[in-house]
Amino acid sequence: MSDIISQDIERVLISEEEIETRCKQLAAEIEKDYDDRQIRPIVVGLLKGSVPFMAELIKYFTHPIEIDFISVSSYQGTQSGGDVKIDKDMDLSSQGKNVLIVEDIVDTGRTLAEVRKLFYNKGAQDVKIVALLDKPDRRVVDIQADYVGFTVPNEFVVGYGLDFNQRYRNLPYIGVLKSEIYEQYC
Ligand code: IMP
Repeated sequence: MSDIISQDIERVLISEEEIETRCKQLAAEIEKDYDDRQIRPIVVGLLKGSVPFMAELIKYFTHPIEIDFISVSSYQGTQSGGDVKIDKDMDLSSQGKNVLIVEDIVDTGRTLAEVRKLFYNKGAQDVKIVALLDKPDRRVVDIQADYVGFTVPNEFVVGYGLDFNQRYRNLPYIGVLKSEIYEQYC
């Protein structure tokens, strides 16, 4: 942990190696489920938090798949809340498709509940969710990801796509920031 970004990290929760290993397992599990159903997913990442996870995950799919992104907003600072707004829609159509939503973390569940509804309203045939992290203690909406990388405790985490005030997404692992970093922004 000698690089500059890591100096702001109090604790590593999940290492880069653990994430890579889990992504391989998840991709195999997901692909098998779709194979069994004889369908292919269109993999749709929620910007921006899903980007590193999605990039790692899709490397291990063995079929040629479509990918796309959407951007929704609902989150500021360290508290989830408010309505979800679609800022950038997909380029490809999801009509009649089997959408696999890729998300960084399921926290209150509000974002995913809204996004899942949106895809069904747009005529998706099937909507599944894969999330790198799940924070079940924070859930206010009854929603579960179909595939979860890791369950984390009720702590604010950064890295591997997850940000604090738009920073730390490039940290190559999941960690907890030192308290003085939050204090700088209060
Ligand atoms: P939800 O709608 O409350 O489930 O919020 C989901 C979004 O909140 C995620 O996509 C993240 O962008 C953000 N979020 C929730 N928990 C954390 C965290 O611990 N660190 C960074 N972002 C988080």
